[in-house]
Amino acid sequence: MDPTDPILQLARPSILRNPYSAYARLRENTPVFRHELLDSWVFTRHADCLAVLTDSARFASDWRRAGEDIPAPLLSVQTLDPPEHTAVRRLLLDGFRAQDRRALHERMDFEARDLLAVLARRPSFDFVGELAEPLALRFITAFLGVPVPDLAWFVPMSRTIVDGMDAGLWPQKHEPAVAARAELAAYAGGWLADPPKDGLLAYVAEHAADSGVDPAVLRNSLRAVLHAGYESASRLLGNAAAALLTTPGALAAFRGAPVATAVDELIRYDAPVQADARVCVADTDLGGVTVRAGEAVTLFLGAANHDPLRFAHPTELRLDRAPNPHLGFGRGAHACLGASLAIRLAGSLFTALAGDHPEARAVAEPAHRRNLTLRGLDRFEVTLRGRAAATTAGEEEST
Ligand code: HEM
Repeated sequence: MDPTDPILQLARPSILRNPYSAYARLRENTPVFRHELLDSWVFTRHADCLAVLTDSARFASDWRRAGEDIPAPLLSVQTLDPPEHTAVRRLLLDGFRAQDRRALHERMDFEARDLLAVLARRPSFDFVGELAEPLALRFITAFLGVPVPDLAWFVPMSRTIVDGMDAGLWPQKHEPAVAARAELAAYAGGWLADPPKDGLLAYVAEHAADSGVDPAVLRNSLRAVLHAGYESASRLLGNAAAALLTTPGALAAFRGAPVATAVDELIRYDAPVQADARVCVADTDLGGVTVRAGEAVTLFLGAANHDPLRFAHPTELRLDRAPNPHLGFGRGAHACLGASLAIRLAGSLFTALAGDHPEARAVAEPAHRRNLTLRGLDRFEVTLRGRAAATTAGEEEST
């Protein structure tokens, strides 16, 4: 494998920490290019990525439209296109809307405060494994109305699925990810056989028969909701914490900014979903090249979110940035169904952090997972104690 390959280089630890200058070089020098290993066009500009995302007639999420054979465990709301996509998306959307938002928000606020209060008793803790991941899992299972799964089983399986999103670069990650997706879908399918009384599952189970949605597609789509709600949301919380606690003055600025605006900026600044893919189904001129039917396109959403043609001073974290047309939640027919929930969850956590623990700070550099599609942290050691308290505690411990 070519070590100078511009995409493989993104996985180097030094670039993984902050890929945005590497993206900027690509965007400036070769904003659109063919990548042999991915066998795909790569787009890095905001305008080009937006054009692809909002044109599902020419750029398909359903690769069967380009003649590909897609295994059944992969057919879900994420991989179908209109018109087949419409029924399952509508069923989920109606289910999302039918939930008691106020109760959910109160619960998020409570859980965030509660977890932080417990962790505040410790000298330091891992923000990822001890806060972002358990909070995201508690939240998405409560939203679905299902019990929290056994973490020892769930976490490695979920990571295998995320690793598989980079299988274009590392093909050995594909098969384990397909198996993990099938295992998670079978688990999610069990919910429908014996649905809970509350939550999204209760709604979906009640309305599934009338919706016309294929039961296997529904099972896979519920798996997608669980997985996105855990992985994208926990990675959002980790990336945002790293930005807030390593940028001087950012946590204090969060207190003064409108919460949803600030969270949107945290997503733009360091989004969990860095890349997305489509297949072209009708020859299209875009970004100075002609993309032929049957060719794949890869969208570097992380690069698009830092495009200076769309965002003033894109490398700066400006928590009052508005408007903020970032592509962190995608756009068009497949735009994120959980966007408002994810913003609210992050808002609950960082409002509690900034309000109750204004002296929170990083005690080590954040360490990133070796994932390029779904960007996220492996570990991030944080303390909620002020320097004075930490010094006193240290003195007490040493006497
Ligand atoms: C509450 C947690 C979340 C849930 C339940 C959720 C659920 C979903 C679902 C079901 C889809 C597929 C929609 C479709 O294909 O029609 C989706 C798409 C997407 N989600 Fe989320 N999501 C969550 C959090 C997030 C977060 C935190 C991010 C990033 C900031 C994110 C980014 C995206 C993106 C970029 C897509 C579009 C994928 C594409 O166009 O191929 N999601 N989400």
